Amino acid sequence: MIFEQIATGGCQSYLMGCAETRAAALIDPEISQLDHYLALAARDGLHIRYLIDTHTHADHFSGTRKLSEQLQVPVVMHRSSPAPYADLRLGDGEMLMLGKMRIEALHTPGHTRDSMCLRVEDRVFTGDTLLIGGTGRTDLPSGDPLALYDSLFKRLLRLDPALTICPAHEYKGRTSTTIGEELASNPRLQVRDPQAFAEMMRTLNLSMPTHITEALRVNMVGGKSVAQMLAEATASVPFMSLEALRANLDDPHSSLIVLDVRERDAYEAGHVPGARLLPRGQLELRVNQELPDPTQRILVYCEVGKISTLATATLREMGFSCAVALDSGMKAWRDAGYPVRTGSMP
Ligand SMILES: [Fe+2]
Repeated sequence: MIFEQIATGGCQSYLMGCAETRAAALIDPEISQLDHYLALAARDGLHIRYLIDTHTHADHFSGTRKLSEQLQVPVVMHRSSPAPYADLRLGDGEMLMLGKMRIEALHTPGHTRDSMCLRVEDRVFTGDTLLIGGTGRTDLPSGDPLALYDSLFKRLLRLDPALTICPAHEYKGRTSTTIGEELASNPRLQVRDPQAFAEMMRTLNLSMPTHITEALRVNMVGGKSVAQMLAEATASVPFMSLEALRANLDDPHSSLIVLDVRERDAYEAGHVPGARLLPRGQLELRVNQELPDPTQRILVYCEVGKISTLATATLREMGFSCAVALDSGMKAWRDAGYPVRTGSMP
């Protein structure tokens, strides 16, 4: 087996492939690392055939959907997953063929209703069902401590003790252990009574993951995160530096339209000399009156550079093929000591 483990903070993703046929599967990819996974697959001569989420993640943004569009390969999840974009839904005991390898799905609800573990040769990818020295939490949507107890003690922990476990989370830099080692030393697994186990899980008092509502929006219904919207806009527009804009102000022949997309009060408190005000919220509805020439060179700025990037992407989508965004924004312009005008538009 060809095996790569990729950490994103405490989240672990795995790329594994058949050494003979080079068919590969990517397990629990995180959206900010897509280029990293593809580079590793290319380096190892692997062809990704399956994109697998072990469960609906509440703490990171799944990259399966985006990669699936890019690579035209199926997103694999458990049959009970709510994600509308899952193409291939596995039931307990069902297998995927990966070259000469077999990936067997074990339905292990508890952390979430749709949690599954994946057994492949001498390993088992445990998702958030079993972690090194811990287990997944059961207090997030669809979590169930008694179901986790059954999944662990009546299913996962009855597998061969020599199997290596590869969890979806590891915060202390340990790479893997075995089922046997976890049975012997994992503190949560020493609580063998189901009710006592459930009580322990109910009283952990863990804090909520930082991006939980956004992660569920992305992972359960296939929406986009704010970071993803910004990354896509950033990749689709050209940028102009503060210095280039400053130099442009001194050019009497410049035809550049400088567009301030902040709100009116911010504009009146201080704007780039000669800038026009067109707040982001009114952009689409006022653009026809304000910008009649779609070939006009337009520079868009806001306070810090995020809204202007989104606005520039919108303008380019609407046909303003020469719209560019300012690299950073009015705050940096002021900090640089460049000229500022106050008051309303002439
Ligand atoms: Fe999770």
